[in-house]
Amino acid sequence: MTDRIVRVLDTFTTERTTQSAADIARRTGLPATTAHRITGDLVEAGLLERDDEGRLRLGLRLWELALRGSRALRLRQAALPHMERVQARIREHTQLAVLEHEEALFLERLSHPDAGANITRIAGRLPLHASSSGLVLLAFADPAVRERVLAGPLRAVSGETVTDPAALRALLASIRRRGHVVAPGSIESVSTGVAVPVRDRGEVAAALSVVLPREAPVDPALAVLREAAAAIEADLRRAH
Ligand code: PHB
Repeated sequence: MTDRIVRVLDTFTTERTTQSAADIARRTGLPATTAHRITGDLVEAGLLERDDEGRLRLGLRLWELALRGSRALRLRQAALPHMERVQARIREHTQLAVLEHEEALFLERLSHPDAGANITRIAGRLPLHASSSGLVLLAFADPAVRERVLAGPLRAVSGETVTDPAALRALLASIRRRGHVVAPGSIESVSTGVAVPVRDRGEVAAALSVVLPREAPVDPALAVLREAAAAIEADLRRAH
């Protein structure tokens, strides 16, 4: 039963936010009657909602339950005031991401009205080896996770994504040495991702990043990011 509920919920993505019960049946491979029954029960429980046209979306109740006491909320709350300062000073997109099932999962994104391109979405994911946040998370991840990702496949998101395992291994070592990454064009040729680690209880718990237009100077952003990461770490220590 749990497995079927998870399959139903998993058909919703950042791009596909509403679906009919028939869509869900097709995507899960469940019989139509089963999909209808499960989605009906989930609507009843508030975990799914119907829009005006009767299409299904994830319910607010699910969001409420998911955030309650989660490690994501604690990190996001500690990070938010400092992310606002980064965003006000750099005036570009500012993101907070965590490692989740071998991908970078974005907990928060702040954007300036004049900021450039950015494909990250809150509650969206990017590949570890391609995004600046992901590279930081991968550099400090458990070695077993790192080896699994290095074993590939390493998909090219753009023409400049590092997909050669030896080059990626060297890049990750340099991130551990320097404590940051500058990833020009790795996701989109027009942008440079800059990211630093955020530690909690001695372990890297998140990556804080900005997405700059390709031609923008990197050093001021890096200085602001480092300062913000240190301030978030201090707040996380106080919150214990
Ligand atoms: C990055 O994290 O490197 C990144 C993310 C989104 C973009 C560009 C770069 O649109």
